[in-house]
Amino acid sequence: MTRVLSGLQPSGQLHLGNYAGAISQFLEAQKQNDMFVFVASYHAMTSQRDPAALRANINQVVVDYLAFGLDPKQCHIYLQQDVPAVTELAWILSCLCPKHLMDKGVSFKDKVAHGLAANIGLYTYPILQAADILYVDPDVVPVGKDQKQNVEIARDLAAKFNHAYGETFRIPDYKEAQHAAVVPGIDGEKMSKSYGNIIDPFMDEKPLRKRIMKIVADGKSMEEPKDPDSCTTFQIFRAIAGPEDQRTLDLADKYRAGNFGYGHAKQELFELLLDHFGPARVRRQELMNDPSYIQQVLADGAAAANQAGEVVMQKVRAAVGL
Ligand code: ADP
Ligand code: TRP
Repeated sequence: MTRVLSGLQPSGQLHLGNYAGAISQFLEAQKQNDMFVFVASYHAMTSQRDPAALRANINQVVVDYLAFGLDPKQCHIYLQQDVPAVTELAWILSCLCPKHLMDKGVSFKDKVAHGLAANIGLYTYPILQAADILYVDPDVVPVGKDQKQNVEIARDLAAKFNHAYGETFRIPDYKEAQHAAVVPGIDGEKMSKSYGNIIDPFMDEKPLRKRIMKIVADGKSMEEPKDPDSCTTFQIFRAIAGPEDQRTLDLADKYRAGNFGYGHAKQELFELLLDHFGPARVRRQELMNDPSYIQQVLADGAAAANQAGEVVMQKVRAAVGL
């Protein structure tokens, strides 16, 4: 059976970009694979210092994973800190990692350019990510487009390790979401927790509608025909419904025909989100009231991840001479 691993940082409320770029792939992958999905708590520490916020965000990501439809019967869900040997592996890999590999990291530069403190954890973030990945020895890592370089670094480090110490790691493949467009936020830039432009699918209806109505649009009048592909509202709609979905095709036709304003398009997006995330919104409320269930899911997930990882770590320790 193919083994698949992925995870998300608990650095704030998950949004439609995370859903379309990452979580929707996890939901697909869990159906037929041996799937591991974790919460990258240590990674979030590279950019946040508030303990209460970190704790709340970690819990929220687990609740949201389950609400979106990750099923503990099909997928092992765990927290990074419950698998301590990952940090041991990160150290071992860091001793093999040439500094220039980190110097090339675009994510570090991008985050620092956006005002994050340039700490060493942020700088070596990809090594910890490589350890997350190689620890469970997956065949495939599904992630959004902007994570491609990090998975490439993991592949590089696995190859370096195998070269230095003999065949130990499988070189994992990277898998991008099928319709892997970057989802824009309400300002038309990449939707990101750090840019204050997200749409949270779990917002109450009224503020959700208000938020959608704020999506940028050009100044075309209602009567004029419009180009769907250059419209932020349409791009978000397509990312959630799917490019081949009849509702997406119909919406594109309405844009081109004219007599259809951006307000109408936004209303359709609002209705799509309520429809698409309706069951998730209900489940999320139930899950928030069931902390003992969440604890059980995480305990089972951690046991499975530790078991899978220990097989790898025994090989690693023997290979390096520990
Ligand atoms: P953020 O930019 O909000 O901090 P992360 O960097 O934590 O998001 O990304 C988590 C996952 O979600 C990654 O796999 C990433 O590729 C995906 N992702 C984040 N934002 C988007 C987006 N706007 N469009 C598509 N995928 C995204
Ligand atoms: N860097 C990823 C993100 O920002 C989170 C992550 C950490 C991850 N370790 C990973 C993703 C291992 C896939 C595999 O979302």
